[in-house]
Amino acid sequence: MEEKSELSTMHPDVETILFSEEDIAQIVQRLGAEITRDYQGKDLVLIAVLRGAVVFMGDLMRAIDLPLAIDFMAVSSYGSNAKSSGIVRIVKDLDMDIKGRDVLIVEDILDSGLTLKYLMKNLSSRKPASLEVAAFLWKDVEGKQAAIDPKYVGAHCPDEFVVGYGLDFAERYRNLSYVGILKPEVYS
Ligand code: XMP
Ligand code: MG
Repeated sequence: MEEKSELSTMHPDVETILFSEEDIAQIVQRLGAEITRDYQGKDLVLIAVLRGAVVFMGDLMRAIDLPLAIDFMAVSSYGSNAKSSGIVRIVKDLDMDIKGRDVLIVEDILDSGLTLKYLMKNLSSRKPASLEVAAFLWKDVEGKQAAIDPKYVGAHCPDEFVVGYGLDFAERYRNLSYVGILKPEVYS
């Protein structure tokens, strides 16, 4: 092969690679091992929030050495696309009844945490046996208090717009195999 494609080497719209494919594989293996240890004998259901979390979900579920079920939800946030308002509408609900089950929400990135806070409230009203969050990234913002405290966090990332590994800008870049900072000139 002469050249690697932009899926695994740096895309011209990406400023810096934060987490390479190899970094991501290590992070996912660590999270999978922690979840495998913590959920022995439980009735685990992974719930991914569409669409950003699908790539992480696909990897994470295969790193968990336990019987488990998966389901998906889609939400849309009111307000501007860049900032989460915390007011969320469920666009696609679960197909599964989660009552009495051990639910782990799988998220791509936690920013303000407002979207997840809403989802946690909504899902806890369905009386799962337990309800926790696994976030691949947690965005560090100066002086910010996240609205929720995820049990599993893959890595922290700077307060920049990041894409790849499921994360998009205007539905692009989700298929990059790494996570990188998008060049500001691409979105401004
Ligand atoms: P909150 O603020 O409610 O929002 O935690 C979380 C959701 O906002 C999106 N988000 C991003 N998407 N690159 C993205 O591609 C980013 O840097 C970014 N920051 C927040 C994402 O959908 C997440 O679920
Ligand atoms: Mg998302």
